[in-house]
Amino acid sequence: MKLLETIKAKAQKNKMSIVLPEGTEERTLRAANICIEEGLSNIILIGPKEEITTKAIEWNLTSITKATIVDPLNNPKKDEYVDLMLKIREAKGLTREKAEELIKDPLFLSVLMIKNGDADGEVAGADNSTGDVLRPAFQYVKTKPGVSVVSGAFLMDVPSHFGEDGLMLFADCAVHPNPTAAELAEIAVETGRTARVIAGIEPRIAMLSFSTKGSAKHEMVDKVAQATKIAQELDPTLAIDGELQADAAIIPGIGSKKAPDSKIAGRANVLVFPTLEVGNIAYKLVQRLAGCDAIGPILQGMAAPINDLSRGCSVSDIVNLVAITACQAQAYKN
Ligand code: ACO
Repeated sequence: MKLLETIKAKAQKNKMSIVLPEGTEERTLRAANICIEEGLSNIILIGPKEEITTKAIEWNLTSITKATIVDPLNNPKKDEYVDLMLKIREAKGLTREKAEELIKDPLFLSVLMIKNGDADGEVAGADNSTGDVLRPAFQYVKTKPGVSVVSGAFLMDVPSHFGEDGLMLFADCAVHPNPTAAELAEIAVETGRTARVIAGIEPRIAMLSFSTKGSAKHEMVDKVAQATKIAQELDPTLAIDGELQADAAIIPGIGSKKAPDSKIAGRANVLVFPTLEVGNIAYKLVQRLAGCDAIGPILQGMAAPINDLSRGCSVSDIVNLVAITACQAQAYKN
């Protein structure tokens, strides 16, 4: 995908520091070596220094010597991070004893490094479930101001007559199971921003349902119609319309027939799904049945960029997600 080259070039221009908590995992270590060699980001690996160094020598990963290695069991900033954890979650029942235990967990250590300004972003999940990666991030990094839910978008490389010359964004395909209308509106707005920041395209956002402009009556349709209104108010600079069926959203002839007054119908390049169930199934079917590349999930709405890998990921998936996370981090800094 040409877009990935653009994303990598952007990442190289202003190097961010990306922490990889699964520092001893083979694909992660190989990806870290490539990221350093290609100058995509500064790399922080979490794990025992001796184990990481031994593996790097065994696999001939010579650039790992340039990574910063932080040992979770022997971390000089432990007390500073524990104090920060207590400041954030003592009211939620966190004790010093528990915090001292949690900070030895690389997934917690990574988010505390970000919170403390010692790293700009995180990529994890080659070895851990989505829930285990996201929970520490939700608890300590939290959402950015004005956003209450984190969601996950995919960049979809579809046939060139769809979307923006074959590029579309799908969301939420990864995080929030059953959003309310207000949450769905936030997801639409955040996906529009991801389209601008990561894909470099001006979004045309379709809020999908099984109804187009009132063609069906159901409370699920009402939710999407309401979310559309809220999203339009949240960010009037974004082109958002709904509720639209998928065919009305992406096929010009059907869009003009079912929603003749819509500026989005038939031309959408961002698809927002009403629930996680629909979004997750849809992206996987498009990926597998149509043979499309799907890059992501790119998590959006968090106060700092933290991205989750599939446990089936390849080395290049990790490299790509590091580059995307670095570009998100640049945008956060700006
Ligand atoms: N955005 C922001 N914060 C959230 C979100 C969200 N979407 N969801 C939960 N939180 C916060 C809660 O407010 C809570 O904060 P608090 O402790 O300060 O009060 C904290 O996170 C923990 O909340 P829980 O409700 O305990 O969260 P839980 O651990 O039950 O679930 C999770 C969160 C893991 C993300 C859950 O929603 C989930 O499992 N989602 C599905 C993920 C998934 O499996 N996706 C499909 C696979 S990915 C793929 O195919 C690409």
